[in-house]
Amino acid sequence: MTPDQVILRAEQITKNYPGTVALDQVDFNIYQGKVNVLIGENGAGKSTLMKILAGVEVATSGRLLLDGREISPRSPREAEALGIGIIYQELNLFPNLNVSENIFIAHELTTGGLLIDHRAQEKRAAQLLARLEQPINPKTLVANLRIGQQQIVEIAKTLALDTQILIMDEPTSALSNAEVAVLVRVIEELKAQDVSIVYISHKLEEILQIGDYVTVLRDGRLVAEAPMEQVSLKWMVEKMVGREASAIYTPAAHAIGPEVLRVHNLTLAREGKAQGYLLDHVAFSLHAGEILGIYGLMGSGRTELFECLMGLHPFAHGDVWLDEKRLSGQSIAARIESGIMLIPEDRQREGLVQSLSVAHNMILASLKQYLSRFFLSSRKEKESVGRLIQELSIKVPNAQALISSLSGGNQQKVVVAKALLTHPKVLLMDEPTRGIDVGAKEEIFDIMTELAQQGLGVLFVSTELKEVMAMADRILVMSKGALRQKLIVPMPPKKHW
Ligand SMILES: Nc1ncnc2c1ncn2[C@@H]1O[C@H](COP(=O)(O)OP(=O)(O)OP(=O)(O)O)[C@@H](O)[C@H]1O
Ligand SMILES: [Mg+2]
Repeated sequence: MTPDQVILRAEQITKNYPGTVALDQVDFNIYQGKVNVLIGENGAGKSTLMKILAGVEVATSGRLLLDGREISPRSPREAEALGIGIIYQELNLFPNLNVSENIFIAHELTTGGLLIDHRAQEKRAAQLLARLEQPINPKTLVANLRIGQQQIVEIAKTLALDTQILIMDEPTSALSNAEVAVLVRVIEELKAQDVSIVYISHKLEEILQIGDYVTVLRDGRLVAEAPMEQVSLKWMVEKMVGREASAIYTPAAHAIGPEVLRVHNLTLAREGKAQGYLLDHVAFSLHAGEILGIYGLMGSGRTELFECLMGLHPFAHGDVWLDEKRLSGQSIAARIESGIMLIPEDRQREGLVQSLSVAHNMILASLKQYLSRFFLSSRKEKESVGRLIQELSIKVPNAQALISSLSGGNQQKVVVAKALLTHPKVLLMDEPTRGIDVGAKEEIFDIMTELAQQGLGVLFVSTELKEVMAMADRILVMSKGALRQKLIVPMPPKKHW
């Protein structure tokens, strides 16, 4: 067999940001018609390296060789002209435009070079979505899509470019298992057409399945590159983390106290003419010190459940009590005040203000606690922010750094920190480990356990059954807007009630 051809090679790439060496003399290969998977902890430099290949960022030093010829793309446009396309980690869609307009933005199909040919765009968009097995109408406004569907539109947008080199930066972080399976098939097709792929993900099992090669970065340095058949899950974790790590998580014991949250017949009808419910008479209770897991696929109503609990849907029916206090009909602010807080799934849109610093984002939801009389107590604020940066090991030069300069996973940790600073009694976590590396996942689990030990009720949803099984004291299964009572899985008793 002939060895695989390197089509694009990055040599000795260094990237300095003020206060951070994001990449330190990294070599990286992209193989013709193969998938090289890039892994590493949050902040290891994966996205930065890919942005350099895609012309979004310029390296401080080092060079890029395409087919042996040196290139220096200065913009995504220039990279596309060289046949390099990228699916960004963070969604880059315009919510006020429709799906096909988003797919063809800046590459509009025109009639005779003058007017946008909406018909042709919609037809082509429909074909791309059909290829991804997503029956989304190309005329749907992106704002009305759930986050997983937006991610699929993001993928379609890059497929529309027909590039020879395709970089996918965590394309599946918001996808359901079925949607991931479709993407895996699409990747196989692309490979058959000789497209060369870089794939970034924190889902290690998915990586074993998709990758032909694996490259590991740690703290901005290249740690290893190997053909996939030579490596194991254990190898990947050890190379990433730099030490032996166990793949199984067992939460520490936490005593379960009285009921803190009771939900009775919570119902949310579909909007408009559509029949049926987004939430169908949901009822359950949560105890202090309990970690309750909800397992359900994307679109099963999990996000709506959390939104209703926070008061985002004024037309929801049913009752919610927090510590004997009736929340139904109360505003979001009043609910937060009463002690319920949400860590949302979509951190970009709902969780963070990109133009503010890490510290300001953290204290945004809890300003009151830091107001001693009329001015902000900056000492108190500094203490709490500093403590959380340490406890969650958020990788940031200092608390004043802009949130937009953090890696995706570290931004997610800031969202968690922000919720913790409100000192809730009940914490709702929507996919708490989305985009978070194996090591940091354990930290998030540790935090959940610690919170339970402090008497908080923790309610979390996840699409990863393994995660739910490892973390939850009880599991509720959700599908089509309803809790399937019959499917409630009683967990083996870890502790006494
Ligand atoms: N614009 C920027 N300004 C300053 N620092 C930055 C900027 N972009 C990235 N960094 C820093 O560079 C480092 C690498 O970030 P990068 O986004 O490449 O990580 P990553 O490996 O993609 O992590 P994740 O898995 O969390 O997405 C981080 O320490 C990050 O804070
Ligand atoms: Mg990244």
